[in-house]
Amino acid sequence: MTQQIKKIAWQRDNPYSLQFDDCYFPANLGYQQAQYVFLDGNNLTARFSHLQNNNFVIAETGFGTGLNLLAAWDLFNKHAAQDSQLHFISCEKYPLSIDDLRQSLKAFPQFAELTNILLKQYQILPNNSFQLFRLSPNVSLTLLIGDAFQMLKQLNCKVDAWFLDGFAPSKNPDMWNIDVLQAAANLSHPNTTFSTFTSSSVVRKNLQQVGFNPRKRKGFAQKREHLYGDFDGSSSTPKHQKPWLIRYQSDIKNKDVTIIGAGIAGISCGFSLAKRGFKVTIIEKNSAPAQEASGNNQGCLFLKLSAHQTVLSNLLLSGFGYMRRLLEDISRGEIWQDCGLLQLAASPKTLTKFQQLASLLPSEVAYLVDEQQASQLANISINHHGLFFPKAGWISPPRLCEYLLNHPNIKFINNCQITKIKHENGNWHVFNHEKSITSSTILINASGACNELYPINKLKLKAIRGQTTAIPVNQISKNLQTVICGDGYITPALHNTHTIGASFDLDCCDPNPRPTSTQHNLTKLTELTPTIAKLVDIENLHHKVGFRSTAHDNLPVVGPISDPEQFKQIYSKLKQDAKFKFKNTSCPWLPNLYLNMAHGSRGMITAPIAAEIITSYITNEPIPLPQNILDAIHPNRLLCQQLIKS
Ligand SMILES: Cc1cc2nc3c(=O)[nH]c(=O)nc-3n(C[C@H](O)[C@H](O)[C@H](O)COP(=O)(O)OP(=O)(O)OC[C@H]3O[C@@H](n4cnc5c(N)ncnc54)[C@H](O)[C@@H]3O)c2cc1C
Ligand SMILES: C[S@@+](CC[C@H](N)C(=O)[O-])C[C@H]1O[C@@H](n2cnc3c(N)ncnc32)[C@H](O)[C@@H]1O
Repeated sequence: MTQQIKKIAWQRDNPYSLQFDDCYFPANLGYQQAQYVFLDGNNLTARFSHLQNNNFVIAETGFGTGLNLLAAWDLFNKHAAQDSQLHFISCEKYPLSIDDLRQSLKAFPQFAELTNILLKQYQILPNNSFQLFRLSPNVSLTLLIGDAFQMLKQLNCKVDAWFLDGFAPSKNPDMWNIDVLQAAANLSHPNTTFSTFTSSSVVRKNLQQVGFNPRKRKGFAQKREHLYGDFDGSSSTPKHQKPWLIRYQSDIKNKDVTIIGAGIAGISCGFSLAKRGFKVTIIEKNSAPAQEASGNNQGCLFLKLSAHQTVLSNLLLSGFGYMRRLLEDISRGEIWQDCGLLQLAASPKTLTKFQQLASLLPSEVAYLVDEQQASQLANISINHHGLFFPKAGWISPPRLCEYLLNHPNIKFINNCQITKIKHENGNWHVFNHEKSITSSTILINASGACNELYPINKLKLKAIRGQTTAIPVNQISKNLQTVICGDGYITPALHNTHTIGASFDLDCCDPNPRPTSTQHNLTKLTELTPTIAKLVDIENLHHKVGFRSTAHDNLPVVGPISDPEQFKQIYSKLKQDAKFKFKNTSCPWLPNLYLNMAHGSRGMITAPIAAEIITSYITNEPIPLPQNILDAIHPNRLLCQQLIKS
């Protein structure tokens, strides 16, 4: 499945698809059509006006230029109460280039401010991925990049209003077939409405067949009629074969949250919730944030993808896209740099893998380079072909953590090790030995590789030691302009020092620097760039040791969790039959407790999107990732696997 970023033709100033031989919206009447067909057809002014502390979900079948998003966002800003949330979910198989999007939206100066926000974030759109945009504190966009049917199948939420928008049904039948509309019906509830510009009899029949109730009214401009209506079919709550993976419904009376751990995972959660008006307390055992795994001076924004669209690869693509959008609001410099990242192909086998990957990804995400191009990009001599990620680079986790922590809704408590947690009278109480530190309805555990606290101590997570080495700039290395990765990595200098790394020491819990780890890092550097390695001043090295929290399946642990003891009892049949189908068993959740951990070697990419997942669980909003990824990273999967193995 090759990524297709679409180039379009212009008819005067109006975008036109040569592929479908159709226009994106009627010439010079785009906004009027959006307003008449999609906003009025779904009665949105009245529905937004009545929202009180509520979520409203719009889903669209074809994102195109984003005009319908802007029109709905603008209407929402004008009519919805400030504590409401709009989620706009839209599918797009052929995303427009950013230049074409900019050009298309120039015609709508009334949306200039919103357009700028969208354009700033409109990047990293690889096929078959969910991409989250937090456009404002109240408005989110999840773009589902891929075929409407394939993508809607992976969504698990209820939609309040559908914008059924494709090219004309005769020219774009894939968009209107029964499968797409059935997928829309599966996501609908009794108050769901829809509207579409067409009055095609095939579309009307298909809509009726899947349970919508289509009506006709006068069409827009030259069109005689168009279809709109509501959902009349039976609304099915998606049934999960595994009750421990059914979506947890949070139940919160107030907006207080306690977070254990001030690394990138805890602080990302705090930042996401603080922006949404939650009062957050982050508790850390060290005297400052980001001293453990998140304590390296520089870390790579490194995707390390598989060519086989695995769960981890898809999570990394969503996480990378989201992280880059988050960073876009922070000045480049000491916190991060999008200097690009060059992944070297040291063997023909790796090069073949890179060729496969490059054919799957848009060049905006990664492209192949030969030795000469690699040398030009890196600005030093490189002896290998490679894969270049132009939007990647490095971040300084401690500086990023400090930046995110500096939010008025976040209180930071340092030098305080939590030794016990307890749920009593609807609140979580956290203690340092017998001293009560704080209590709140919601508790998030983001304690990295420290696994003493219940219930994490039941999850059998590993702590894998790693050591980075800081080397001083030398005559060659001062020219380095991109991150270079292979088995190891080197970053361009920050304050005259490069970070190289990182050792991967299984079964070692030594918190002190080890000469063997230093040697490992220097050997890896020699493999990447012998010219820099030769000049390293080994008298002036600095070291940082950290521990990577890791689950046995190498996936993060993100979401709510059950009580491990009760889990064992209720689902004990799994011991005999791993595929046993449970009926009517409710899951023994630990109320309002969430985990954000086990980010392994990729926390800079996975922890911030994980924080958004947890925020969506807490606020009962659509979760911006496909169900198979949510299942694969769910904390309860580990309890289930343990039971099956026991
Ligand atoms: C050597 C090394 C190099 C790496 N390089 C990269 C890289 O280049 N790119 C990348 O994406 N990732 C990299 N990683 C991985 C990444 O750093 C981690 O995935 C990420 O930092 C994990 O963040 P965290 O918040 O989960 O854990 P941590 O940063 O360890 O944070 C957990 C925090 O919880 C605190 N805590 C624990 N228990 C308690 C308690 N009971 N009470 C109070 N506080 C508590 C700890 O003190 C700590 O501050 C690297 C990791 C290592 C070790
Ligand atoms: C008429 S345009 C949508 C206009 C858009 N709503 C706007 O506000 O600009 C139809 C869009 O559907 C996309 N599309 C066509 N077939 C698709 C499919 N099978 N799955 C997902 N998107 C598709 C097209 O690439 C195009 O961007």
